[in-house]
Amino acid sequence: MAVPGDEFTFPRTGATLRNRAVLAAMTNKQSNPDGTLSDAEINWLLRRAEGGFGIITTAASHVTPGGQGWVGEMGVWGDHQMPGLTRLADGIRERGALGLAQIFHGGMRAPEELTGEQPVSASENPCTEAHCGHSRELSGEEIEGLITAFGDAAVRCFDAGFDGVELHGAHGYLICQFLGEGTNRREDEWGGDIGSRAGFLLRIIEEVKSRVPDDFLVGVRISPEYRKIGVKIEDSLVLSEMLVESGIDFLHISCWDCFIPPSDFPDDSRMITEWFAEPLSGRIPIISTGAIWDSSEAQAVMDQGADLIGVARAGIGHADWATHASNPDYSPARPPFTPKHLAEQGLSKPFIEYMRNWKGFVE
Ligand SMILES: Cc1cc2nc3c(=O)[nH]c(=O)nc-3n(C[C@H](O)[C@H](O)[C@H](O)COP(=O)(O)O)c2cc1C
Repeated sequence: MAVPGDEFTFPRTGATLRNRAVLAAMTNKQSNPDGTLSDAEINWLLRRAEGGFGIITTAASHVTPGGQGWVGEMGVWGDHQMPGLTRLADGIRERGALGLAQIFHGGMRAPEELTGEQPVSASENPCTEAHCGHSRELSGEEIEGLITAFGDAAVRCFDAGFDGVELHGAHGYLICQFLGEGTNRREDEWGGDIGSRAGFLLRIIEEVKSRVPDDFLVGVRISPEYRKIGVKIEDSLVLSEMLVESGIDFLHISCWDCFIPPSDFPDDSRMITEWFAEPLSGRIPIISTGAIWDSSEAQAVMDQGADLIGVARAGIGHADWATHASNPDYSPARPPFTPKHLAEQGLSKPFIEYMRNWKGFVE
């Protein structure tokens, strides 16, 4: 059985990772208003590349100005963003990690006060939550335009020197809104059963793959279940089969907590990762993320069938988390952390303030 300190090679491209630890995408609110990367954002990620992670994933970054979900978000929609993207991608590679840019569009969760435009989605969806808006339904022509925008963004990431992109289909943003039966009630080719609701994502994959070189990694992150938007685990399993067929390089399942079973099947003792690993193992690399803090938890998720383990909050608290991947007894301090500790770990003041939104994280 593999262990977190083992190397890993992506079967299709042959790209090799020094270990199984993936720094999962984390929004950190440090980008400039025009979507360019700040020194603080580059620094926080390069510290984690130095800290031994096999993969460094950027924060979610919007592919069109209208897709921006929050203030301080990095963008991959304009050539003015290229110098910062290039500096980040080069720095990640120089430190021995692979760099992935996570690309997305907020859809109904790209608020008008930020973008100046009414939010768009698969269907008209009222939304009263913070950072959300009453969306209008996208036209077929606009959907085609967004698919092209994802392709443009991926080409930009390639040109900047990233090793690949992670298409953000999780957490209720536009791709997820297309996947969910609650938010996608379209009666045209883009709506219907999961096969049709997946059409937007599958077309994005096709577009991206047709425009980047063959050895550029293309993966997808999904929420295995997201009740508010109407994504069910049964549909996600069907979707994952379609994703294997599409030829992507990895499937990243965002579990939030890898140690609880799916909420619709609390009596089934299998954890979410196992639901996916059982049918997919050996057919597509699986990354699983959620509540991994120490080496024994990382090993447990690999034993559930994940090829790679995603680490988010532990990687904020401990920049060098991944250098301990081979030590089965590694058990780093858990939150709350003092602002001083977080500053020492390479977080700027705005990022530390943002982390106060995560209950119990900052002392
Ligand atoms: C500060 C913060 C920002 C996040 N931003 C993103 C993001 O931009 N994209 C994404 O897919 N997930 C995002 N997540 C979710 C994480 O990638 C991860 O799935 C989640 O935190 C659970 O993993 P953990 O228990 O290791 O923290 C974020 C999480 C945190 C804590």
